[in-house]
Amino acid sequence: MCGITGYIGDGIALDDGESAANDGATGDAAGDGGGFARVGDIVHEGLRNLEYRGYDSAGVALVGEASGLTVAKRSGEVDNLTVPDVADAALGIGHTRWSTHGPPTDENAHPHTDCVGDIAVVHNGIVENHEALKTELSDHEFTSDTDTEVIPHLIEEELAAVSGAGGLLDAVRAVESRLEGSYAICAVRDGDDRIVVARRGSPLVLGHDEDATFVASDVTAFLEHTRDVTYLEDGDVASLSAEGVEVYADGELVDRETETVTWEADAAEKGGYEHYMRKEIHEQPESLRQTIAGRLDVDAGDADLDVSFPPGFLADLEEIQIVACGTSNYAGRYAARLFEDLSGVRATVETASEYEFGAGRSPDRTLVVAVTQSGETADTLGAVRRANAAGARTFAVTNTLGSTVTREVDDTAFIRAGPEIGVAATKTFASQVATLTMLAVAIGRERGALAAADARPVLEGLRDLPGAVQQVLDNEDAVREAATEYGDSGAFFFVGRQLGVPVALEGALKLKEISYDHAEGFPAGELKHGPLALVTPDTPVLAVLTDGARADETMNNVTEAQTRGAPAIGCVSAGEEYATLDVSLPVPDVGIAEPLVANVYLQLFAYHVANDKGRSIDKPRNLAKSVTVE
Ligand code: AGP
Repeated sequence: MCGITGYIGDGIALDDGESAANDGATGDAAGDGGGFARVGDIVHEGLRNLEYRGYDSAGVALVGEASGLTVAKRSGEVDNLTVPDVADAALGIGHTRWSTHGPPTDENAHPHTDCVGDIAVVHNGIVENHEALKTELSDHEFTSDTDTEVIPHLIEEELAAVSGAGGLLDAVRAVESRLEGSYAICAVRDGDDRIVVARRGSPLVLGHDEDATFVASDVTAFLEHTRDVTYLEDGDVASLSAEGVEVYADGELVDRETETVTWEADAAEKGGYEHYMRKEIHEQPESLRQTIAGRLDVDAGDADLDVSFPPGFLADLEEIQIVACGTSNYAGRYAARLFEDLSGVRATVETASEYEFGAGRSPDRTLVVAVTQSGETADTLGAVRRANAAGARTFAVTNTLGSTVTREVDDTAFIRAGPEIGVAATKTFASQVATLTMLAVAIGRERGALAAADARPVLEGLRDLPGAVQQVLDNEDAVREAATEYGDSGAFFFVGRQLGVPVALEGALKLKEISYDHAEGFPAGELKHGPLALVTPDTPVLAVLTDGARADETMNNVTEAQTRGAPAIGCVSAGEEYATLDVSLPVPDVGIAEPLVANVYLQLFAYHVANDKGRSIDKPRNLAKSVTVE
């Protein structure tokens, strides 16, 4: 997830005390006590407002009639970037990056340009077919490791073939039809007085002001200047000029509604949500799309995480040891079953702080997989160091490029979930499980333990996951009602079987973490071996009743709790019905990914219970996002 923004107009006169200007490059005084923000200042300010979407590197491209195209970019946070003071700039675009292809270097920062530096492009998303396109562009000079860089070169090719006033617009339209994956793009060209933008799968919103137009991944970028916005739809290509906006869909000029944003600035930073946690729960369709982009080959029944193991290593592999803490540990537990079922390898999960390599194991036949969102958790790093000391091959699954864990392991797969600000992990859990599922398929296929025909339904489930999660999010009111009805209970029990167990554990962790209520998760069959003594009408049971989680047997245990008066809330595979449930939440059919979708209901349940109690949801008491002490 990256942030992109753009502005076309004459600059903005600032009132006294307004802070739109770039610290270093404020333009002329407006003459009435305020200042004047030039195009570069406005784009820079937009990037600061979007930094929550990524902060590996940042850059801008400015276009002026006399100055032409000026590009500035560098690695690091947005404030590391010095935006050139281009006095005649009439339009500009900017980007703040969360790396997916290529490390956060100056070269990989956006904007990217064509061979002669006439065209500049910023991009959010992933161009899945960039390798094939790059091969086609073999006579072009590439200077970065990014997937994005193919776009300006393709535009360059198109412009060489297209002439006339509609050049950049026509070229972007032609190019976007050739891109596979998800993207939001802004393109500018030396000598052109327009910004051309396109979206498919990644968000893009236009802001309308008198004699000026803004564009961004999120209204946060420009909200203090205008509240009149147009949300572009998938497949839209738009041409922005100082006079206004033209939006095209399927080559036809279309009308897109303009609406007025009513959020206050603080809420706007959270995309209109009251808390980052809820925003991040709702980002899951987008973050999951990024996680799987370009990595699934459903037809071939394979997944590609761009990792290669030494020859013979996977064939001889005896054990996968997963090490992780908290939510990442539960993602690991989900994956352990998949490694056994799909990769045909014995898999164990250890709480990282407890991990020792273990006597009697063969280091050269063991893969130790560290799952860590931050890549900085001290307990997990300690486990990786013990595994390295034992001579095992180590592998990280993380969200954070350049994090410590990536420097200490042999291989890394990034989950590409984008920055997560809420202390309670939500979207990163989903992306960790999706990434680990792809790893399990890739290992299984390479070992010859998994037939393409058996891999295909798993990959189809991953492919359909973003849409399934969206359906759950669309049903949020049902969870909110359940939270209001049962949120004041004395304790909460979360149960499931098989892949439902880690989700039950995660559901309980989420609830305790942010609501401070007592909650416990365990395998449903264990209820009768002790915890049932605690069950009363004041202890709701939340159950994962999906495919891959032996739902009927779990329901038997839920009934045992109901017999003792406990209310029961079930996440149930669509089409199934358990008439005695007090609340039934339907889970779309995505095969073995269904418990992961059920987890989104549990995230929402925890959120609404905590919110009803007025808890500090994004920064729960006593907790930190990244725990860097053992
Ligand atoms: C989850 O909501 C918590 N914030 C916590 O359990 C977290 O998952 C754990 O500290 C591990 O963090 P990591 O993924 O960054 O290693």
